[in-house]
Amino acid sequence: MRGDSPGQARPVVVVGDPVLHNPTEPVTAFDDELAGLLEDMFATMYVAEGVGLAATQVGVSRSVFVYDCHDDDDVRHKGHLINPRIVATAGPEQRIEEGCLSVPGPYATLGRPFSATVSGQDKQGNPIEVTGTGLFARCLLHETEHLAGTLYIDHLNRRKRSRVLQAIEPFPWNGPLPQVSTSELIDG
Ligand code: NI
Repeated sequence: MRGDSPGQARPVVVVGDPVLHNPTEPVTAFDDELAGLLEDMFATMYVAEGVGLAATQVGVSRSVFVYDCHDDDDVRHKGHLINPRIVATAGPEQRIEEGCLSVPGPYATLGRPFSATVSGQDKQGNPIEVTGTGLFARCLLHETEHLAGTLYIDHLNRRKRSRVLQAIEPFPWNGPLPQVSTSELIDG
């Protein structure tokens, strides 16, 4: 495991659950409960061996994500963002494979800008801005989009999207997949 958190890992919600497909509520209370949610999200991300995790992925419709991810210079970035907003992106576009803990299937190639800047708040409510390159830029965009109810597969064409969804399998550390038919997922 890459990291440690005093929090408790929670089950990861899988594609098809409405919490993943709807915009989140902004955070207005920067309290102990929020700090606890962040610790649980870090614990969950480490168990799942992800590089980022949005609150919706543990079934919480609040605008929060955590990350522990390397950038294009192999520098490690670990942190959280509350109420994130994409403020800038810059090219050139990078086309590499992307995946999502809430879409436990094969990865798919997706173009993303080389760098991204996201602004938001920290857990005390102070304004912060984070810029990333390479995989870290991809992570910042992927997680910010989660909180708007968008999954990376929503950027794929119908054929690629259905290829991913038809191959999803539960992760060993998570619960069984929900009973949602594949055709429902593809049309939804
Ligand atoms: Ni994801």
